[in-house]
Amino acid sequence: MTPFEYLEETKQKRLDELKQFLSFPSVSAKSEHKQDVADCAEWLKNHMSAIGFTAELSATQGNPVVYAEYMADPKAPTVLYYGHYDVQPPEPLSLWTTPPFQAEVRDGYLYARGSADDKGQTFTHIKGMEALIKTSGKLPINVKFLIEGEEEVHSVNLPEFLKDNKNRLRADIVVISDTAQFNKTLPAITYGLRGIASCEVFVYGPNRDVHSGTFGGAIANPITVLCQLVAQFHDKNNKVAIPGFYKDVKPVTKFEKSQYKKLPYKEGAYRKALSISALHGEKGYTTFERTWDRPTCEINGITGGYQGEGAKTIIPAMASCKITMRLVPNQKPLDICNKLERYLKKLAPTSVRIKVNKHGGAPGVVVPTTGPWLDAAARAIKAGFGKAPVFMKEGGSIPVVSDFKKTLGIDTLLIGFAQSDDNIHSPDERFRLVDFERGCRTAAMLPEELAKVKR
Ligand code: BES
Ligand code: MN
Ligand code: MN
Repeated sequence: MTPFEYLEETKQKRLDELKQFLSFPSVSAKSEHKQDVADCAEWLKNHMSAIGFTAELSATQGNPVVYAEYMADPKAPTVLYYGHYDVQPPEPLSLWTTPPFQAEVRDGYLYARGSADDKGQTFTHIKGMEALIKTSGKLPINVKFLIEGEEEVHSVNLPEFLKDNKNRLRADIVVISDTAQFNKTLPAITYGLRGIASCEVFVYGPNRDVHSGTFGGAIANPITVLCQLVAQFHDKNNKVAIPGFYKDVKPVTKFEKSQYKKLPYKEGAYRKALSISALHGEKGYTTFERTWDRPTCEINGITGGYQGEGAKTIIPAMASCKITMRLVPNQKPLDICNKLERYLKKLAPTSVRIKVNKHGGAPGVVVPTTGPWLDAAARAIKAGFGKAPVFMKEGGSIPVVSDFKKTLGIDTLLIGFAQSDDNIHSPDERFRLVDFERGCRTAAMLPEELAKVKR
């Protein structure tokens, strides 16, 4: 039996197993899900052991890492596969057609939180390996799986895990499937990701919520001040107005521009998919450049005061917002957070107090666009999808990619199987069944192709 035949024969079983994997609410952002996260890791470890991997849970300061190995031949290449089993919070629940942790197939898609980001994509590689082991009794390469449970909370404990396990994690190349294809008929290899810097900003006014009639007019309203501050994050050309924000940003290269010309793009379709009547972004740049090569500053949430039913006449004691800034290579997350903090403190009136909590960050990355590993990946995709991949970048972030290079000295292949309309981080997240199938087939071909690389 060929690996493809094996995959075809086990189609239903594979889907049922993925549904089980998706049934754990492994939400890393919320402490109430600590046990669900641990249960999910345990399930995954057992699943990989049953396939023939030596698998274990590795404790960290946070959620466990699932580590699994299959050492085939000391002379063969060693490939480190990375994925994450944690997921984003599913809220708002009312916008899901079916419950987020009861995976359901509808109109050619598997709907569930984590289906595309990243359980479904990680599972393609596990099933690809299973197909190889079951049909030929072995793998053609040495395989190490590192599947973490904290990617969606900035992989806070992973850099230390990499440092502590340098030897164990030694590999020739990293493979990650946690990105998207270019579109539904065009697979892609991603060669760049933006980084991220996150903060939460608090504006403090009076020492308690006070009557807005008694005190209104005499003191600053923290919500008003916060809104005035937020309104100064961008200038009239939609450039980020934080002083020094663009200092380390390099111009878009000729190579990028020539790459993007090869990619199909229709502004009308882009707008329509989001039901917006116009685009909005930094003046002088295209959509690809704005989302892949230019840094941004976004408010992810803003809150303050009374939000319950009916009226309540107060001036609130505090208002706050969560901010993420997408970064490009050379920008440093902490430096960017510091620049934001200085800007806010300079702008804010003395009638309020500003606090900035600086959370984790990750730098933007670019990975090689040529070489034997890349050629091998392209061949595997061609075999799995029936179509050669294009090169693209992504605006999203995978924090550990820069650490793989910095700490372990290993480059990464970003081979995504999802789609940009799979609703990752949104209600009704989904993974197209044909993408799951093509992904599994690519994953089954990849080890054979990587085995051919001369080191
Ligand atoms: N899989 C995504 C990254 C991604 C998103 C790649 C879109 C390509 C397109 C990943 O799980 C993710 O969501 N990362 C976070 C990182 C953050 C929490 C540090 C992100 O980009 O917001
Ligand atoms: Mn992901
Ligand atoms: Mn994500």
